Amino acid sequence: MNNLLKNFLFVCLVMGFVNVTAQTNKVITDPIDLRVAQLLSKMTLEEKIGQMNQYSNPYVQTGAGANSRQAQSFDQLIEDGKVGSFLNVLGANETRRLQEIAVEKSRLGIPLIFGYDVIHGFKTIFPVPLAEAASFDRSAMQQSARIAAVEAAANGLHWTFAPMVDVARDPRWGRIMEGAGEDVYLNEQAAIARVKGFQGDDLSQANTIAACAKHFAAYGASIAGRDYAAVDISEKTLREVIFPPFKAALDAGAATFMSAFNTINGVPASGNKWLLNDVLRDEWGFKGFVVSDWNSLGEMLAHGNVESNYEIGLQGVEAGVDMDMEGRIYLTEVTKLLNNKMITIEQIDEMVSRILRVKFQLGLFDDPYQYCDSKKQAELTMHPDHLKAAREIAKKTFVLLKNEKQLLPLPKNGKKIALIGPLAKDKDAPIGNWRGNAESNSAVSLLEGLQAAVGDRGEIIYAEGCKLVNNPIQNFFSHLDINTTDRSGFAEAVKAAEQADVVVMALGETAYMSGECRSYADISLKGLQAELLREIRKTGKPIVLALFNGRPMVLTDIIDQTDALLVCWLPGTESGHAIAEVIFGDYNPSGKLPASFPYHVGQVPVFYEQLNSGRPFEPNPEGFSTKYRDIPNEPLFAFGKGMSYTNFEYSGLQLSNSIMGMEDVLTVNVSVTNTGNYDGEEVVQLYIRDLVGKGMARPVMQLKGFEKVMIGKGETKLVQFQIRANDLAFVRLDGKWAPEAGEFLLMIGSSSDEILLKEKFVLKD
Ligand code: NOJ
Repeated sequence: MNNLLKNFLFVCLVMGFVNVTAQTNKVITDPIDLRVAQLLSKMTLEEKIGQMNQYSNPYVQTGAGANSRQAQSFDQLIEDGKVGSFLNVLGANETRRLQEIAVEKSRLGIPLIFGYDVIHGFKTIFPVPLAEAASFDRSAMQQSARIAAVEAAANGLHWTFAPMVDVARDPRWGRIMEGAGEDVYLNEQAAIARVKGFQGDDLSQANTIAACAKHFAAYGASIAGRDYAAVDISEKTLREVIFPPFKAALDAGAATFMSAFNTINGVPASGNKWLLNDVLRDEWGFKGFVVSDWNSLGEMLAHGNVESNYEIGLQGVEAGVDMDMEGRIYLTEVTKLLNNKMITIEQIDEMVSRILRVKFQLGLFDDPYQYCDSKKQAELTMHPDHLKAAREIAKKTFVLLKNEKQLLPLPKNGKKIALIGPLAKDKDAPIGNWRGNAESNSAVSLLEGLQAAVGDRGEIIYAEGCKLVNNPIQNFFSHLDINTTDRSGFAEAVKAAEQADVVVMALGETAYMSGECRSYADISLKGLQAELLREIRKTGKPIVLALFNGRPMVLTDIIDQTDALLVCWLPGTESGHAIAEVIFGDYNPSGKLPASFPYHVGQVPVFYEQLNSGRPFEPNPEGFSTKYRDIPNEPLFAFGKGMSYTNFEYSGLQLSNSIMGMEDVLTVNVSVTNTGNYDGEEVVQLYIRDLVGKGMARPVMQLKGFEKVMIGKGETKLVQFQIRANDLAFVRLDGKWAPEAGEFLLMIGSSSDEILLKEKFVLKD
């Protein structure tokens, strides 16, 4: 240390700006770390353990085993310093009441941190995250997270358990709806946008909340797409596919991480020292805290990797799961572990410090009540600007996959439209699962949206066709399901179609058919929906299918029964208005698929970023090539696909150089011309293939960039990308994460299966 620095530190020490901790002799200069150290030095062991403990509101449960938990008053526990955090407690008044106990009655006045699943909106609900990823619009994703944070913060919350950044390649897995789909780069971009949106520029502001990158790690890779099932995965795939979105979230500043439920190669993620300590903290330098998933510590008993809560406590501490969500393990085990010298007080201090640091960053020690303001809550929740944004964002997420004879857009004038299907009038499905604090049945239905758009210029004839029914067993949060036996509405639906010029069918999934614990082996249309569609088809009327879905679905059997297919996902509060804008051409669809729609469920896991085979596909049925005997290899609709009402032509691909060095930036230019009759947005996609790996096979293509551009009809826009050597890095044969010199193919297209321009370049050492 030079003298100048020594003198500076000495002055700071005298003035109380720096501290030397007794145990570690570390010099602390960061003002927050200093405050943390000072507070920690005053805490009893019981108070430290309290900080590591998170309870759920017993009346609002989002986890298993919850119902057996006794409803209890937590007031005394808070006063005794035995609670660090709550989840599922919300509202300015209730959070203020509890915060007052923590700050004014507990010995050290340490504020509570209130967490909640704010996944795609708090009360104003945005499209489910998978849908938002389909917008390929970074600013839309950031904006929806920003608004969600504003509403959540005004309702007393400090922390969201989002974004989920799990790459998901198996649409049977219900939680695919919570992330950005199958692609690594798209997941990274969504992670960055969402973390920035939730956290803003300054976490201490009263309208920002801490983000939580989850579920670390590999939760989306469960065997056979069954939620909570084991994960068997190579370290290479972890590092190349699963980790990058988490790293992107971390680099964007995510304050917290959540450890996953699943085992990874036999070791539960929540007790995985390699994952949480060696990779997350030592390699990546994560400074925030890790919360377990709901009782994911306690569930180790069921995994069978330990035989007692005592052993679980040891694994949790060693791995560095700082906060125990509803597991109540640390409460009883940490003291025993310390007494038996199985863990050290320094480990506990470190864990508690990480939690306190985030509380300081949120400004909770400076103004513990800044988030509990009932006036703000009333003003900001479902603010008209938020609803407007929900509509704007929703319309960007719809994906047009079929449009025979330009059936869409429909004219608003003088046509009779039959709107048919169980989801046509439904106001609940569009809100989706993980709906924050939304009211049930609070979305604008498609019927309402079409009626509002048409007014008295045309006619909408509505028929339900097949009903939604109660199914309390399958859907424990909601009760709506698609019926499987009742055809009594078919005749009315057929009559409606017969009277109409065109039919819009609203089919798909209800709100709780995707999300946690909603894995399905059959991901085609449920119940009598396909049969209803076939009946309507017999009328000969042109059919637009508006699909509501929280996952990619198998549509192979019904695609021929439609003339147009618009994937609407679960679009949120403004659903019906947003869909109407697209159906009537007030907005030209611009979404692209963030995950492949399989041809058959037997193809899953299904994704474009495959390695080649030594026996690549060739059509000769006698040939020994990689293929199915009964179905095509390709999905029905590939990643990146999505049509527009206009046409785009790509030309003039230019690379700034055909050779790039490790420090160079390769600039890629391409021109895109709108040659059709509507203004429209195009998502220009850039893929790369590393042609020869040194000893290691490389994927046939990987998305490395996308730009969404608005192009007026007849206009041409220049789209630019930049590629750096780091973008080409992977886990090489020598185990290093690094780019490798060699030849690359750069591909530009409008979809992973529609490459329009290609050029090679060379990366030099
Ligand atoms: C379990 C889910 O896996 C997780 O994503 C969620 O944040 C917690 N429950 C809390 O509700």
